[in-house]
Amino acid sequence: MNPEESKKIIKVRNLKFKYKNAEKNALNNINFEVREGEFVLITGPSGSGKSTLAKILTGLIPNSYPGELDGEISIMGFDPRKNKIYEIAQNVGLVLQNPENQLFALTVEDDVAFGPENLGLGREEIRKRVEWSLDVVNMQKERHKAPFELSGGLQQRAAIAAVLAMKPKVLILDEPTSYLDTLSAVKFSYFLDNLRRDLNLTVILIEQNVDLFFKFLSRIVVMSEGKILIDDKPDVVISFCIRNKIPINIPLQFLIINKVFGKNCNEKMLQDYQVEDYELLLEKIIDG
Ligand SMILES: Nc1ncnc2c1ncn2[C@@H]1O[C@H](COP(=O)(O)OP(=O)(O)OP(=O)(O)O)[C@@H](O)[C@H]1O
Ligand SMILES: [Mg+2]
Repeated sequence: MNPEESKKIIKVRNLKFKYKNAEKNALNNINFEVREGEFVLITGPSGSGKSTLAKILTGLIPNSYPGELDGEISIMGFDPRKNKIYEIAQNVGLVLQNPENQLFALTVEDDVAFGPENLGLGREEIRKRVEWSLDVVNMQKERHKAPFELSGGLQQRAAIAAVLAMKPKVLILDEPTSYLDTLSAVKFSYFLDNLRRDLNLTVILIEQNVDLFFKFLSRIVVMSEGKILIDDKPDVVISFCIRNKIPINIPLQFLIINKVFGKNCNEKMLQDYQVEDYELLLEKIIDG
């Protein structure tokens, strides 16, 4: 189904949050929706509220991080002020920025089993979910290894397996490439896009490396100082950010287009010239 027509599964209206003992709000009047099947990227400077929003959408706020939370919230029908984390975790899974914070068992397998065990599922169901999750991230070979022995990329995948074992429909990842080298980050972008297609997942990705994911996305949301600056189709957001000099990571092809067309650069051109047109664009630059 076209995600633009699919049903809204996450909706927040006039969302505000202030951490306990904080002086100012971490989030101010956030209006944000996600439709089933979308792949939404959230970016913005440090401290703009990206992780805070992710913590609300997974119930960690206010259940584990107290504070003043206001506004309408519907996360697949759940509200973190009324529902417990484990109820939300079966619908929305969060992969933390540092996988070491998510992996604490002695083996990968035990980490993957941890969530389902805590749901009180039967042994056979737990076993099935562990096998399935390890298959999905292609980590059967590493199942008996200690998470700390693994490379950053494999730790990332183990953390994803642990979250997928809860069978969520929505996957939120908080800066998953920040601990990866460039090549692993590129591989991860394809891995994530394949994963969401194969499992029909809705994905919310908090990420600075916009360029790596650009071609896969339904929408980009730019946050700044606890607010949403713009939330639109990827090419609209990128041209807005170029025009208004908003410091986000701009994919290379747009920088080239901007250089070639200067002030005349508009969304139409950004749509017309895709990555395959590099050569054409370079010729234009060379020819003046
Ligand atoms: N546990 C906390 N207690 C008090 N204030 C907090 C807490 N966590 C975050 N904040 C504050 O809330 C605001 C938003 O922080 P948040 O971590 O959501 O930003 P972010 O966009 O994820 O930043 P980064 O890119 O550095 O991860 C910041 O001003 C931050 O200092
Ligand atoms: Mg953060």
